[in-house]
Amino acid sequence: MKKTFLSALSVIPLLKQLRRRLLAYRCYLADIRRHLRYSLYYRTAPDSRDSLRCAIMLLNHQLEKAQTYKSVKEGFGHEKLLQVLSYTDEYIRKYGADDLTEVTIGILSGHFANVHAWKDEATHAHFLKLKEAVSGSIHGGGVFEYDGNKQPRLENFEDFLASRRSCRQFAPGVPDEALLRKAVRLAQWAPSACNRQPIRVHVYTNQEQIRRIVASQHSDMEWCNAAPVLFIVTAHESYYRDYLERNQRMFDAGLFSMTLCLVLHNMGIGSCFKMAQKYPAYDRETRKCAEIPDAEDICVLLPAGYYPDTPVTTAKSVRISETIVCKVHP
Ligand SMILES: Cc1cc2nc3c(=O)[nH]c(=O)nc-3n(C[C@H](O)[C@H](O)[C@H](O)COP(=O)(O)O)c2cc1C
Repeated sequence: MKKTFLSALSVIPLLKQLRRRLLAYRCYLADIRRHLRYSLYYRTAPDSRDSLRCAIMLLNHQLEKAQTYKSVKEGFGHEKLLQVLSYTDEYIRKYGADDLTEVTIGILSGHFANVHAWKDEATHAHFLKLKEAVSGSIHGGGVFEYDGNKQPRLENFEDFLASRRSCRQFAPGVPDEALLRKAVRLAQWAPSACNRQPIRVHVYTNQEQIRRIVASQHSDMEWCNAAPVLFIVTAHESYYRDYLERNQRMFDAGLFSMTLCLVLHNMGIGSCFKMAQKYPAYDRETRKCAEIPDAEDICVLLPAGYYPDTPVTTAKSVRISETIVCKVHP
């Protein structure tokens, strides 16, 4: 009897493992569902505003980048040019001219000015008509002469990097909306794959809403309730093409989030990342309280606020040896 009881007990860790594995499948399936529903190449045509923006941004990037290569392919960009003109016509017809169409006109101006680029009279006339429709100030995309050696260098950059610590206690007071917007605008300098800029930032300062969002995550994050501001960084799934890019959103979000965190630190605003609980039920709950559309994948939370007036006990969070992190291959 005792033996049977003991052997039954030994099965428990195995059952726990099995449950964990099944939950992992469930979570990955939820990711795949969003990926298949929104990413560009699973659609017969770009049929939403975001997917059309993504298609145009991809072509823009290719046409812009092609103008920067040292050895340019003669007659480059034929099909891409025709496609971007057609998509942009459709975009203006459906949604009107905006920042994207301005950028497109700038890039295409560069394309037509490039002696190696493919062009013909009919396409040029098409472009000029489009340019007229967009009107406005054309300070969009294109190319310029960049000298990396002449860019500013921060003397105390190393000290600045080492001076940031995750901040879990905050001074009272909410930073101005203009300052928060400025922080996001500066974080937009972070690069993204093909410059598709798929990252979206949701900012909350309503304490009741922050409390509900925090509760929806079902994790030990009481300290987050004290934050005067909560940023949620998401990646818009419509800005990815297919399975080859399935992990790109987290990478883009990481680059953006770290830039945001450093910008905030430079403004005297402390922050601490809070891992998003990627369990589908929690994700749905957070999405609902935080009013985040289904096409956006929640990547990370970032509670923030001014640093407290007096020092607070903080983890040193020592970094491991660089020799473990870095292997220089001969
Ligand atoms: C993606 C990510 C998720 C994190 N999640 C949490 C979290 O859930 N709770 C928490 O207290 N800190 C969290 N942190 C903060 C880390 O614990 C912290 O960055 C790390 O210990 C290094 O300390 P430092 O930021 O002070 O240098 C997270 C950090 C990152 C980058």
